Amino acid sequence: MNIIKEPPTPDELAAMYIEAGWLQDPSSDKMTKVVSSPSEWYVVRDLTHAALGIGLFITDYARYAFIIDVIVLKIHHYKGIGTAIISEIVSDCRKLGIDNINLWPSKGKVPFYEKLGFYSLPSDQPHMKFDTGK
Ligand SMILES: CC(C)(COP(=O)(O)OP(=O)(O)OC[C@H]1O[C@@H](n2cnc3c(N)ncnc32)[C@H](O)[C@@H]1OP(=O)(O)O)[C@@H](O)C(=O)NCCC(=O)NCCS
Repeated sequence: MNIIKEPPTPDELAAMYIEAGWLQDPSSDKMTKVVSSPSEWYVVRDLTHAALGIGLFITDYARYAFIIDVIVLKIHHYKGIGTAIISEIVSDCRKLGIDNINLWPSKGKVPFYEKLGFYSLPSDQPHMKFDTGK
């Protein structure tokens, strides 16, 4: 298993989103835009080069990093892949001198991130969202 710091292919990304249940039928146009975005990408690949998991964050390279997605294929859960991705992101953010790392946990994933040292903000400082309808 290797962590490679480059984007997955659009098809690999679509497969990850479908498997996570976040998108049902991702458009290839949107997937191509996402993998081409100026984000920091991580892909865990096995010896056959198959993608087992992905992670990405965006950052201002000084104050904030925001982890957007971390997804591991279900058949590879609980093998330490998610931990390896987050640990690599934390290590890289430290090297870059970024002050803090933020994320929005999916339902049920708070314990996973707490094990890795993340903490929840108080309920009067929630993550906020605006749906554009797009
Ligand atoms: C969250 C996710 C990335 C974890 O990946 P993973 O490779 O299975 O995680 P790891 O094997 O590194 O697990 C690390 C630890 O977290 C725990 N853990 C993993 N998923 C957990 C969960 N859903 N709830 C509670 N604990 C969890 C593991 O038990 C393990 O603890 P241990 O070391 O004490 O045994 C994976 O479940 C996933 O892809 N989920 C779907 C997409 C998603 O929700 N991503 C998070 C978006 S914020």
